[in-house]
Amino acid sequence: MEPFATKVAILAQKLAEILAEKLGHKSSFFQESCLPSTCYLRLNRYPPCPIPSDIYGLMPHTDSDFLTILHQDQVGGLQLVKDGQWIAVKPNPEALVINIGDLFQAWSNDCYKSVKHRAVTHPTKERFSAAYFLCPSYETVIESCSMPSVYRKFSFREYRQKVQEDVQLHGYKVGLS
Ligand code: OGA
Ligand code: NI
Repeated sequence: MEPFATKVAILAQKLAEILAEKLGHKSSFFQESCLPSTCYLRLNRYPPCPIPSDIYGLMPHTDSDFLTILHQDQVGGLQLVKDGQWIAVKPNPEALVINIGDLFQAWSNDCYKSVKHRAVTHPTKERFSAAYFLCPSYETVIESCSMPSVYRKFSFREYRQKVQEDVQLHGYKVGLS
């Protein structure tokens, strides 16, 4: 896990830089705000689930970070919304999955969209995935890189608190608004 985290941390920074450059911004913002101490790796284990109904491994959600790098095994179960439909992200042993998170959507002023995704269970097979989250410090203020801005500026702390409150209040994350 340690060599994996070290490698994907560098990759995440590179990707953020490239995506920012594509918008015409040569930015050190991600390097300065997303330090090793504020990013994290989540190891997911989905036990087999023989009940064939809508039991999720992970509820539909968007990630609350800048971007996520996901390695999934060959079992499959990751799905995302495309044109209003859930589609499967087929496992590819040669590829990582990159998700845009809410913060990148806000920073890019909706140029990049945070994709809604979920994990469904497999009836007989156990599944593992590892997700690296490129996150800033709580003090970091996320402000659109172009004007007029779709969202008001907010700190990552504010956003995390709102997500937690929404989950407690509604049972799900409301997300950017
Ligand atoms: C996540 C996530 C998907 C998966 O950890 O946020 O979306 O396939 N994981 O494990
Ligand atoms: Ni996710």
